[in-house]
Amino acid sequence: MYAQEVKSTGKGVKSLDEMDPQERAFQERIDADIKIEPKEWMPDGYRKTLIRQISQHAHSEIVGQLPEGNWITRAPTLDRKAILLAKVQDEAGHGLYLYCAAETLGVSRDQMTEDLLSGKAKYSSIFNYPTLTWADIGAIGWLVDGAAIMNQVPIQRCSFGPYSRAMIRVCKEESFHQRQGYDIMIKLANGTNAQKEMAQDALNRWWHPSLMMFGPPDDQSVHSAQSMAWKIKMNTNDELRQKFVDETVPQAEYLGLTVPDPDLKWNEERGHYDFGELDWNEFYEVIKGNGPCNRERLEARQRAWTDGAWFREGLVAHAEKRASRVAAE
Ligand code: 3HC
Repeated sequence: MYAQEVKSTGKGVKSLDEMDPQERAFQERIDADIKIEPKEWMPDGYRKTLIRQISQHAHSEIVGQLPEGNWITRAPTLDRKAILLAKVQDEAGHGLYLYCAAETLGVSRDQMTEDLLSGKAKYSSIFNYPTLTWADIGAIGWLVDGAAIMNQVPIQRCSFGPYSRAMIRVCKEESFHQRQGYDIMIKLANGTNAQKEMAQDALNRWWHPSLMMFGPPDDQSVHSAQSMAWKIKMNTNDELRQKFVDETVPQAEYLGLTVPDPDLKWNEERGHYDFGELDWNEFYEVIKGNGPCNRERLEARQRAWTDGAWFREGLVAHAEKRASRVAAE
C-alpha cells in the first residue's frame, strides 16, 4: 500500500508489517483516504508533524503580511490600495484558521507564538526578502501566492480534517491574490520603459527565492517521506517546484519578461523545463535567521505581541467576569 511504496524512496518510514495493530489500523484509514479528526487516536509523530507544519504555515501567513503591508500607504491608486488592503486582511484570516486548526491538536496559541518569537518555529523563507518597489507587490502576488497555491491545492486532500478544510477557503482566496499580482505585472510590463524595467527587476529578485519556498531538494528533505506516507504532504518538494516552473515560465513569456536563469530550457524528452541549480546555501542561511529581513520581521512580531498584551489581558478579564456572573445566576 501507500506506506510501503513510499518506503522504497523514503527514509525511516515503517511498513505496515512493522506497525503495531493500532498504528496499522490508523495507516490503513489514511491509505483509504479517510479523514482523521482531532479527537481520534493518532501516532505521536503524526500529531507533532501536523503541529509543526500547520503552525509554521500559520506563522508564514501572519509574517507574510509585513512585506506587503509596507506598501498599503504607497499603492499607486485608490483601487490598488483597496485590493492590497483586502489581500493583507485575507492573509491574517488564513493565519487565524490555521492557528485554530493547530489548536485542535492540543497546542495553545500562546505556545505557538512563543515558538515563533524564540526562533524555534520557522516561517516561510520568502518573507525575509524586502519589498523595494511597487513591482514587488505584483511579483509577490504572481510568484509567491502562485507558489503557495501550487503547494496548498494538494493539501486540500490531506489526511487531517481541519487542515484540509481550512485549505479549501485559503486556496480560493490565494487564487484571487495571484490574479491581482499578475494584473499588476501586466500593467507594468505594458507600461513605460521604466515600468517594464521595474517589473523585470522584481522578477529577477523574486524568482529564485520563490522556487526555494518549496523547501530543500528531495534528497535533503527530512520530513517528506513520512509526511507523504501520512498524507500530510501530497507531493515532494521537487515535484511541486517543477510544476511551478512549468506553469510560470509561459506566464513570464506572455508578460515579455525574461526569467533570470541562463540554464532554463524546455526539455522535449522530459516534457518539462530544465532549470539551473538554486543557491541552497542562501536558503539555509535564510531559514537559520540570516536573511536580509529576518531580524526586522521577528522584531515586528515581538512588538505586536508586547503591544497587544493589554488587549489580551482585557479579553481574559472580561471572559472571567462573564463566566463568574453566569455561574452566580
Ligand atoms: N521556509 C522556511 N523553512 C522551510 C522551507 C521554507 N520555504 N522549506 C522547508 N523548510 C524547513 C522545514 O520546515 C524543515 O525544518 P523544521 O524541521 O525545523 O520544521 C526543514 O526546512 C526541512 O524541510 P522539509 O522538506 O523536510 O520540510 P517539510 O516536509 O515540512 O516541507 C514545506 C516544507 C513544503 C514548506 C511544508 O512544510 C509545507 O508544505 N507546508 C505547508 C505550506 C506552507 O507552510 N506554506 C508557507 C508558504 S507561504 C504562505 O502560504 C503565505 C501566502 O500568503 C503566500
